[in-house]
Amino acid sequence: ALVTSTEMFKKAYNGGYAIGAFNINNMEIVQAITDAAAELKSPVILQASQGARKYANSVYLVKLVEAANEIHPEVPMVLHLDHGADFATCKDCIDNGFTSVMIDYSSHSFEENIEESRKVAEYAHEHGVVVEAELGTLAGIEDAVSVDADKAMFTDPDQVEEFVNKTGVDSLAIAIGTSHGAYKFKPGTNPKLRLDILAEVSRRLPGFPIVLHGSSSVPQEYVKIINEHGGKLKDAIGVPEDQLREAARGAVCKINIDSDLRLGMTAGIREHFVANPDHFDPRQYIGDGRKYVKDIVAHKIKNVLGSENTI
Ligand code: G3H
Ligand code: 13P
Ligand code: ZN
Ligand code: NA
Repeated sequence: ALVTSTEMFKKAYNGGYAIGAFNINNMEIVQAITDAAAELKSPVILQASQGARKYANSVYLVKLVEAANEIHPEVPMVLHLDHGADFATCKDCIDNGFTSVMIDYSSHSFEENIEESRKVAEYAHEHGVVVEAELGTLAGIEDAVSVDADKAMFTDPDQVEEFVNKTGVDSLAIAIGTSHGAYKFKPGTNPKLRLDILAEVSRRLPGFPIVLHGSSSVPQEYVKIINEHGGKLKDAIGVPEDQLREAARGAVCKINIDSDLRLGMTAGIREHFVANPDHFDPRQYIGDGRKYVKDIVAHKIKNVLGSENTI
């Protein structure tokens, strides 16, 4: 059923696991994610970025998620706006079938972030929709060269209570060393999330759901398939899965994954074309991409999120 994340997060918080928030851009990705969630009896969050809404047309994405719900009525699903840029974008989603929105004003001042997030939360709550906001700046750990850079980048635990109290948002994305994309860390380094900041944030906000963006792990077996079939992905490195599992045991209730699905889709399609240079039926090669995306989502549910068998 299409739901908000309220109950989902409560159960995840108390159960020591997290819900996967996977980015959707087309039918095959929606199918891969929701088929995996149904097989493993896991709730799931389907999230659409502004780029996705532009690529697919938001109406298609809403209808695809409605279709997935008709096919898997037993699976709790959230349709979430990823990185909403402003009130108007959030309003459009709230008015048109989304059950959750993110207002991302994290690059604005603390005061502007509070004001825009508060405005979105007020409108969303009037319409039965929940809101995620963000405090802190997501960037690669390698950029943290000084204490000042550290401060600028990671979420400041001293700000979280005021932010949540003044905005009334339902969940908070924090920056603890994750970043977007497939090139997160310097090769040869030992990536470490700031789980100490997460612990301090959850001490300040007991019971409150925390969100991690930029949480792809960039599985090297898929990078290898891509590079062995004509691809050139150099130094693609992600977040170690055991650290995400650790975060999911604590206050983190939502973990965002997009890049890993892109790698899976690309690996399946590249492999298919090399093995079958005579094929030109999109169902054949996109079907192979879909298979890998489903495998990756299943792996996340079982080994990273811990949300298997929680429906
Ligand atoms: O946070 C970014 C997500 O991976 C979505 O990316 O804006 O290219 O759709 P996108
Ligand atoms: P990745 O690029 O690590 O998959 O992060 C996705 C994300 O945070 C979407 O909001
Ligand atoms: Zn993100
Ligand atoms: Na959790």
